[in-house]
Amino acid sequence: MEAVKAEGLTVVYGRLKALDEVSFTIPSGSMTAVIGPNGSGKSTLLKTLIGLVKPAAGSFKVLGSTIDKMRGKVAYVPQREEVYWEYPLTVWDVVALGRIKAVGPLRPVRKGDRVVSQSLERAGIESLQSRRLSELSGGQQQRIFLARAMAQEADLYLMDEPLTGIDAEAEDRLLDILSDLRKEGKTIVMTTHDLSSTLELFDNVLVLKNRLIAFGRPEEALKTENLVQAYGSERVAMHLSDVRRVAGWR
Ligand SMILES: Nc1ncnc2c1ncn2[C@@H]1O[C@H](COP(=O)(O)OP(=O)(O)OP(=O)(O)O)[C@@H](O)[C@H]1O
Ligand SMILES: [Mg+2]
Repeated sequence: MEAVKAEGLTVVYGRLKALDEVSFTIPSGSMTAVIGPNGSGKSTLLKTLIGLVKPAAGSFKVLGSTIDKMRGKVAYVPQREEVYWEYPLTVWDVVALGRIKAVGPLRPVRKGDRVVSQSLERAGIESLQSRRLSELSGGQQQRIFLARAMAQEADLYLMDEPLTGIDAEAEDRLLDILSDLRKEGKTIVMTTHDLSSTLELFDNVLVLKNRLIAFGRPEEALKTENLVQAYGSERVAMHLSDVRRVAGWR
């Protein structure tokens, strides 16, 4: 089954075309990295897929249907700068928000809720569950949002720059959790600025510069000409050693 199918997706903000006729198909049970420079439409793409932004033209399906029908099965983790961190909520409260749809909107999620405890455990944050969100480090906060997404028992995970601002160990841990989810048949679509060998872990890379530059296996998508189109030749030269191995360059 196709987890995401986009056809001619076009998004405009006023006069600015943030996405220009973007088409691609993401198979279920795969991990896709969305890369591209600042302002290339990565966040806009995820926001469109979760239904926060309406396309001016084109269409898309998630999990074989419309986002309105599938919302409960699609988890979205926003870019860090877009989250208001001063909520007086504890870690447990935030993760339990993921359960509201399953439990029912007018019922409280029980303190002993199994899905919430398992999600906290899988994300490695059980020990933080009574802490307040605002007291935590960036890497810890990322894991809380991942735990919330797992508590939702989503089939499609849309994550906006989950690797930004976390250390190498936290990154490894997050990527491990994501590959476990993929093994369970979940689909992960993640934006990143990390043009390193991390990209090797992904089934597909989508290169964006408001229009689709490339979509395919990392070694295909990361070909020099694609990166030059997205980033310009100077920036690509800077990253050359990082991406060489992924792209299979010798
Ligand atoms: N709500 C908005 N109103 C007007 N313009 C917007 C809005 N959101 C994004 N844009 C513009 O749309 C373009 C794409 O933005 P988007 O946030 O999708 O880029 P991005 O690839 O996620 O960038 P970054 O790497 O900085 O996160 C940018 O030029 C941005 O200024
Ligand atoms: Mg963004």
